[in-house]
Amino acid sequence: MPAITVDGRTIEAPGGSMVLDVVRSMGIAIPTLCSHPDIRPSGACGICVVEVSGPSGPRLANSCATEVSDGMTIRTDTPSVRGARRQAAGALLSRAPGSEAVRRIAQEMGLETGKHDAGGGKCIGCGNCEQACREIAGSGIIGSRGHGAVRIFGIFDSSRMSECHLCGACAQVCPTGTIDVESRASALLRASGGRLSCRHERLGLVSNRLCSANFRCSRCEFDQNLRDAFGAHPAFVARPRAAYGFTSIEDFLFDPACEYGPGHLWSKRRNGVVRVGLDDIARRILGPISKVEVEHADSGVQEEVSITVRCRNGRTSNVAFPVPGAIESVNPLLSTDPSAPTRDPYRRGWLFDFRPNPYAPRDVRRFTGHTASLWFRKEAHEVKRLLNIDRKTRGGDGAFLWIDERSLAGVEWGELAGFLTMGSREAREKAVS
Ligand code: SF4
Ligand code: SF4
Ligand code: FES
Repeated sequence: MPAITVDGRTIEAPGGSMVLDVVRSMGIAIPTLCSHPDIRPSGACGICVVEVSGPSGPRLANSCATEVSDGMTIRTDTPSVRGARRQAAGALLSRAPGSEAVRRIAQEMGLETGKHDAGGGKCIGCGNCEQACREIAGSGIIGSRGHGAVRIFGIFDSSRMSECHLCGACAQVCPTGTIDVESRASALLRASGGRLSCRHERLGLVSNRLCSANFRCSRCEFDQNLRDAFGAHPAFVARPRAAYGFTSIEDFLFDPACEYGPGHLWSKRRNGVVRVGLDDIARRILGPISKVEVEHADSGVQEEVSITVRCRNGRTSNVAFPVPGAIESVNPLLSTDPSAPTRDPYRRGWLFDFRPNPYAPRDVRRFTGHTASLWFRKEAHEVKRLLNIDRKTRGGDGAFLWIDERSLAGVEWGELAGFLTMGSREAREKAVS
């Protein structure tokens, strides 16, 4: 695992982590603008710059877009770092003087914003909207024109406007408040004579649902219920399966590339290390997550790893990874963004990297491939049985399953939490060889 030194303190960080996430997990603040937890970093704004010393001497690098590597020395507050951030803020202010976020950052860097037109442009050309539209909404209708400082993003092919789900993923990841999906939707609503399908129907979450809230989604009870159930913007709840290779088993997302088993934690092997995260069954039972603690993360080989999750309405739940071994590292993102497993359970929301003990007797099987899908299906059935879920109680319109407080009424949380830790009795017995 790479060891890096940040402002004189040395820390081991998971391979593949970004400098920004690791530095923040150490409690050191770094200003950012274009970085967003659900978007691959573009390094477009230059505000998060730090000084990185490697074999070829010190250089400035955008911390959100730089991966940690062994022996790296990072300094977050030097005259050259402060100068580079100020310069970046000046360039952003010239390009997007109408953005509140840009003006605030420029002021924090000590720049005079008065002479810049507050009614001017807002877009900084980061491309977050393009990536979200392609990878989160699965639509891919946002494109770009031009290069460098004059690159602009938008929907340039008007014939594809009808492919817009009006989901708002683009607005959600835009750091400058440039995109107003509600106004676009209101115009379409007027043009349609007041009959426009709801964004949740367009996203494939429900069926046959017309908008009844004038596309003011934040005031819509249905929209609100979905946010409460997941603790995330609805556009992030159902990612386009094709883009990620996911399938759906009994209404739950399933990543065929993972191993599964009791504990409801997926695992994936790479280079002798196993990456572990919550599966979609756990995600939906737990609901909005506010804290994740991986117990005894520093204490060497353990019989199993226990994870405590603070989840919906302040409840807590323990889930366990029943394989002996030692934790290599915990996802640094969890310290600043504990809800990442809710939005992206099989990718960015992973929990920890783990090195299994090859000499320990292996009495718990993990399932792969077809066996995993059979095991997962059994577990999905069991959750529905425990929660008494049938088509009438599913997701308002019956097309998408979400678990909310209504579904939990009359169910013992202890029983559900026990199910998460151990799996259903039948599946558990089958898993122990
Ligand atoms: S609202 Fe439309 S343009 Fe924006 S991400 Fe969703 S589908 Fe793409
Ligand atoms: S509209 Fe927003 S997200 Fe898209 S490029 Fe401009 S600033 Fe970035
Ligand atoms: S936040 Fe890192 S480049 Fe914008």
